[in-house]
Amino acid sequence: MELYKDKNAPIDARVEDLLSKMTLEEKIGQTVQMPLGRMDFEKVKQLARDGQIGAFIYAFTALAGEEGDSSLAIEKANTVQKIAVEDSRLGIPIINGRDVIHGYRTIFPTPLAQAASWDGALVEKGCEIMAREAYSTGVHWTFAPMVDLSRDPRWSRISESYGEDPYLAGELAKASVHGIQGDDMSQKGKLVACAKHYIGYGAAEGGRDYCKSEISDYTMRNFYLTSFKKAVEAGVSTVMNSFNEISGQPVASSSYLLRDVLRDELGFNGYVVSDWGSVEQLENFGVAEDRKECAELAFNAGVDMDMCSDCYFEHLKSLIEEGKVSMETLDASVRNILTIKFKAGLFEHPYLEETNPDEKMLLAEDVAFAEKFAAECAVLLKNDGVLPLQKGTAVALTGDMLEAKRDLICSWSADGRAEDTQSFLEAMYEYNGKENCRISRHMNGLNAQSIFTTSDVVVVAIGESWMVTGEANSIASIDVTDHRLEYVKRAKMSGKKVITVIFAAKPLAIADVVQYSDAVLYAWHGGTRTAMATVKLLFGEYIPCGKMPSTMPRHTGQIPIYYNFNENPRLIDDYYGNKPKFMIGARTLTSYHDISGTPLYPFGYGLSYTTFNYSDVRTDKGEISLADLENGESFTIRAKIKNVGDYNGNEIAQCYIADVKASMCRPTRELRGFKKVYIQKGESVEVEFKLGFEELGFYRRDGKFAVEKGEFEVYVGKDCYAEDKLIIKVI
Ligand code: NOJ
Repeated sequence: MELYKDKNAPIDARVEDLLSKMTLEEKIGQTVQMPLGRMDFEKVKQLARDGQIGAFIYAFTALAGEEGDSSLAIEKANTVQKIAVEDSRLGIPIINGRDVIHGYRTIFPTPLAQAASWDGALVEKGCEIMAREAYSTGVHWTFAPMVDLSRDPRWSRISESYGEDPYLAGELAKASVHGIQGDDMSQKGKLVACAKHYIGYGAAEGGRDYCKSEISDYTMRNFYLTSFKKAVEAGVSTVMNSFNEISGQPVASSSYLLRDVLRDELGFNGYVVSDWGSVEQLENFGVAEDRKECAELAFNAGVDMDMCSDCYFEHLKSLIEEGKVSMETLDASVRNILTIKFKAGLFEHPYLEETNPDEKMLLAEDVAFAEKFAAECAVLLKNDGVLPLQKGTAVALTGDMLEAKRDLICSWSADGRAEDTQSFLEAMYEYNGKENCRISRHMNGLNAQSIFTTSDVVVVAIGESWMVTGEANSIASIDVTDHRLEYVKRAKMSGKKVITVIFAAKPLAIADVVQYSDAVLYAWHGGTRTAMATVKLLFGEYIPCGKMPSTMPRHTGQIPIYYNFNENPRLIDDYYGNKPKFMIGARTLTSYHDISGTPLYPFGYGLSYTTFNYSDVRTDKGEISLADLENGESFTIRAKIKNVGDYNGNEIAQCYIADVKASMCRPTRELRGFKKVYIQKGESVEVEFKLGFEELGFYRRDGKFAVEKGEFEVYVGKDCYAEDKLIIKVI
């Protein structure tokens, strides 16, 4: 048997053996990804026979996340795979990619909502289920997780991200990579993961999708890179380059970003795939003359695989022959790709084996998990005591999201189905009894008012359409529309308690909604079971525990507003609202004259039906020498949390640091640890955080990571406004 076919041989040896047998055309073939859905089938079969396709994407267009029905592509892919494996010269399998983002058929909360659970175990389990379902339909590779740091809710893709904080996003990136790939990607039911979009896509100017980003190296290393670093540490196999340029350099042609930083600094050793068409888009950026130069720039920069622009397919051969791309560069890319194919077990099990993948979908325990997951992501923002409700309460229901289904599974759920999803109204009927629910679909005057006044409470369901989330759907204003606000106002006019439930995928500016509501629950676009999870939360069957992974602005005009900003030199009113106003003569200097500098709700904020008291924040030692810290010593921070309320519940304790004085400006606060703890009523628990070299350091101007001597403030509490503080010192 040839060495590369021997499943017991080491992967490196298999790769080298295979590489040594490949022709130039076959090598180039591995760097090509094609959109199976829209290709001429006879041509595809011929290309597979000739070993000229490395990968497929199950999609018809570049907006793959919004396309349903992959079944046709799956059947075709299996036929083509047979040809690639059995009829091509070397039998190299094709890797099938698809955007499986927050669930395949069982849809989980959209990633930003998942981040509100602050729970790596939930995220990991969701990814495991998603991988298992997708795998059974012939998908080998998913373009997830999306780990872009995003501070701008106008950017519609914020819904696909883990929010504004690098530490939280990094922890969840690790969890999702592990959930998708497992410990061994060759196991059935595991997929190849892809950390995207490398890098800076989330910093698109003004939140306009695909716009340029301005990110200094300092900001990139301390903020935007963190989640990619953690994804790489977790063993992510592939990385997708982003569409954007950074400070004049398209990422797709930046060997600094793709080789020096990603491979040399972060240690990534899988393969880089372009985002759809980002190779050919180098021409649109005006940095390449033609498609051939696009291929030359991107390939030399380190984009190993070209998703759907065909530039490599058309031009790599002549670029090699002309010496513009070296054979070593090509070999290195092919090596990267083949290594992942071997690791994924594709040579051993290349085919779709399921006879009826439908039987693997929406298993009862997975759906039950989807409900629990959605419940743990919901964030209670306000409650004057009206919640939780008693079963059987006479509830008046209104709002434009009462019957929404498609919205609840959000964008990037191409294989999810609205019909698998209950509406909020259906869930209310099921749980509270139809006889206890009265509906006012429209706001028309007296009728609505009489429904409201003859009920015990009014529940208003509003939010946003899935069509203002995901790719290319950015919006200029995150304000709640007048129409939706009107539902809340009219409900309030009734004099009854008003509970507003918000089904949205991004932070919206909800100050007015809050003003007219007695309770506000942010239920997100929480997937297949959003509706029942929400209803059970309202009735106290689940106790809310989610916390905001993104700052909630008061107003669109405050964007960007995020908790870990660098201190302003003039101590004007800021995010924390506790700085003295800066006076010059008689004038007070403020952030804005027409609005407070504080957000509506800060990062990490979220209420429960019970109350948690923090005390005894302490450290095991007040100081550690820098040398000891470098050698692995750390501060142990502990705090006591007591549940002094009436319900058992989860609390997410958060630990922040502030580097008091450093050689460069440092953030006011930075999250450096979090713990989710379940505490019975009347009970207390201790939480513990470790602050070592990694937690206390930062990347300096020279790109080196260092801890500087001096004091650090440490805060432990329920959100980034935590007040319990202590000082530790690095000497
Ligand atoms: C474009 C999107 O930016 C990316 O997230 C997605 O994975 C690819 N298209 C493939 O559909």
